[in-house]
Amino acid sequence: MKKVLHIVGARPNFMKVAPIHRAISERGSLTQTLVHTGQHYDVKMSDVFFTDLGMPAPDIHLGIGSGSHAEQTAKVMIELEKVFTSEKPDLVSVVGDVNSTLAAALVAAKMGIPISHVEAGLRSFDRTMPEEINRVLTDRISDLLLTPSADADANLIREGLEPARIRLVGNVMIDSLLAAREKALRLPTLSELGLEPRGYAVCTLHRASNVDDAKVFSGLLSALSHVASRLPVVFPVHPRTRKRISELGLAATLERTPGLRLVDPMGYLEFLALTSQARLAFTDSGGLQEETTVLGIPCLTVRENTERPITVDIGTNVVVGTDPVRIQQTADRILDGYGKKGRIPDRWDGRSGERIAQEYEQFLGVGKTPRLAAV
Ligand code: UD1
Repeated sequence: MKKVLHIVGARPNFMKVAPIHRAISERGSLTQTLVHTGQHYDVKMSDVFFTDLGMPAPDIHLGIGSGSHAEQTAKVMIELEKVFTSEKPDLVSVVGDVNSTLAAALVAAKMGIPISHVEAGLRSFDRTMPEEINRVLTDRISDLLLTPSADADANLIREGLEPARIRLVGNVMIDSLLAAREKALRLPTLSELGLEPRGYAVCTLHRASNVDDAKVFSGLLSALSHVASRLPVVFPVHPRTRKRISELGLAATLERTPGLRLVDPMGYLEFLALTSQARLAFTDSGGLQEETTVLGIPCLTVRENTERPITVDIGTNVVVGTDPVRIQQTADRILDGYGKKGRIPDRWDGRSGERIAQEYEQFLGVGKTPRLAAV
């Protein structure tokens, strides 16, 4: 049987690979190997997601860990070359835009192994973001470009990539969300935090451009403190952000800010319970912009741009930038009842994993079913 080898590395990869792995396993026409690079390694940034998403433990764990971009990417490449040599995959499947994604694609391309990039074509057009470099380069060397929305197709075509390689399969992360939503809503997360449905806001911040720049980060925290004076703000803190808070000596002030609740990073189900019942979300994450669009929760993206414009064009997202006054004013308008309603984009319907599995069968010349993507 032909073999697909999946790469996961960092937190936002797990909820994208789980539905693909499940669909391939249910269809039974391909074998698969799951490789975890170890880019993220804390239990709360990694292990809990496997349990929450019902994903099997990785077949191979590289244990790479943290480092500079060059170190992290290079270490993943060195180890993956050995894995690809011994596993001999027929297709390497990478997702998203993290360093592990690009590292895997580079190794596969040099070894002549076909590559599929899931979540291809997203562009912020901001080359200062490491993720944008990872996206552009991964797409350039991928054989199958599986996109979440039509804007991504247009970006790839504008860059001169062959239309025959592009397939609009929809947003696979939303498969995970729809599959887990009911279970998440049964968790006691809100009562444990003393929150009422729609009575609080949720915040995540971890982009280097926001948390590594002291001025930008302090501005964002002051805007959050303002919002926290109107309703509780729950802020699960990413390890990178936790480090900056302590380096800047802000921990004590933040702990004392009324309404602001700093908590540890949450598992997938717990966080879904939190976001799906929030009044408002603040974020610089890509995934949360998409999840809030599907959940119908107003989202303020505290960045100057987004690689996911469909969440703004038809979803609930507003790209508000990092100016604290603008963030406060926009949040106030939403809390006063003027949040965007939004619609759910085409093919964000919980069937993307199945479409992807069918694309892999077609690409590898197995299975004869018509493609869902074409329906
Ligand atoms: C990475 C991705 C980013 C993604 C984010 C989601 C890249 C370039 N960035 O950013 O696109 O949105 O993951 O979380 O790939 N750390 C821990 N424990 C962990 C992991 C990280 O303490 O399990 C700390 C380390 O101090 C590390 C820092 O977080 O140095 C940053 O980790 P890294 O993987 O380099 O990037 P992220 O900021 O997590």
